[in-house]
Amino acid sequence: MICDGAEKVMIGSNNYLGLAQDERVVEAACDAARKFGSGCTGSRLLNGNIRLHEQLEEALCAFLQRESVLLFSTGFFANQGALATLTEDDDAILCDRENHASIIDGCQFAPAKLVPFRHNSAVSLRNRLKRLPAETGKLVVLDGVFSMSGDIADLPPILEVAREFGALTYVDEAHALGVLGPLGRGTVHHFGVNDDVDLVMGTFSKSLGSMGGFIAGKKEVIEYLRHKTRCFIFTASLAPAVVGGVLKALEILQAEPERIDHLWRNTRKMHAGFKEIGFKIGSTQTPIVPILIGSEAKAFQFTQRLYEEGIFATPAIYPAVRYGEAIVRTSYMATHTDEDLDRVLEIFAKLARELGTFEDPVYSHPGRRKNVFDFSLSYPEGSHPVREGSGDAPRSESGLHPAISR
Ligand SMILES: Cc1ncc(COP(=O)(O)O)c(C=O)c1O
Repeated sequence: MICDGAEKVMIGSNNYLGLAQDERVVEAACDAARKFGSGCTGSRLLNGNIRLHEQLEEALCAFLQRESVLLFSTGFFANQGALATLTEDDDAILCDRENHASIIDGCQFAPAKLVPFRHNSAVSLRNRLKRLPAETGKLVVLDGVFSMSGDIADLPPILEVAREFGALTYVDEAHALGVLGPLGRGTVHHFGVNDDVDLVMGTFSKSLGSMGGFIAGKKEVIEYLRHKTRCFIFTASLAPAVVGGVLKALEILQAEPERIDHLWRNTRKMHAGFKEIGFKIGSTQTPIVPILIGSEAKAFQFTQRLYEEGIFATPAIYPAVRYGEAIVRTSYMATHTDEDLDRVLEIFAKLARELGTFEDPVYSHPGRRKNVFDFSLSYPEGSHPVREGSGDAPRSESGLHPAISR
């Protein structure tokens, strides 16, 4: 990419298959805009419905092997809207502690009680379910691929526990579509459990290179959501260019599976490369590779230096990650070349030496330590990358976002 007039290697994007810049996708988006206009200027339930929306819903049904699909204007709205709508007062939503913010916000809008369980732990889920009255309606919600750690949901045991307690299940496939499972159909297909999961959610803002989201499930549930979900009813529908581009991207994804093979080749290379240098990359199993730094200020400093060296990545700090475990979040694409990736590894190794990353006590003992906000780092005049006072944000006992740690 070109940024501030200089070439950078992009390792901060969710464009896993490189389809956002594919000429066929861009052309399909332009064609749709020429035919239908720049926007639909209304809700789908009013004037904002065009044939393309229905075509995309049908194409997704076939791809995901689901009865019915409902499009949303963003992935965030899909989670927030569906979760707020699916439950009633006496229900409980069991939510993995590392679920995406849109899920947590959806739970907050929902009348149901939010019951968090330990990240990716069927044992913790079981303990939580055990304490709920038998008559409580239960919905277990989790990311298929976790957006910060890059690990894959341990679906088989989690689904078994959910089944034991009669809980319904909901999997967010945002980072799994185009990445996991045959033809990139997602985590539920990767584990062969599509029929055991009640609802799947996905986005177009990652492998499909655009924006928007969807919920897929049984026809009667999707029809209920279509007529009840405020995030669907009271917002304008996806623009024609978006839908046209996503339809083409979905077609290419299925016609060119070698893209996914290449993505995984690049992923394996980077997992091995970072480990060899000595970086801690946590439990990632996917193209999302978090590079632990520990200190928030140092995560900003590291990414600033990466940028100066021609690499674009972003830091992730609390509440996106646990307090005291700041990372440089990197993610890889099918379109990265070996040359790009070798350069990335070379610069990371150089900066770890330059910035003393591995000698930092916050790196060797991450977690809740006093010095994670180290504002005494020196920066050139006027370029301090951390906002004054950002270290004063209220934190909860568990080090997690207050909404989830209650
Ligand atoms: C796991 C997960 N779910 C949902 C979303 C929201 O999707 P969108 O950006 O398409 O609104 C994201 C986006 O970052 C995500 O990572």
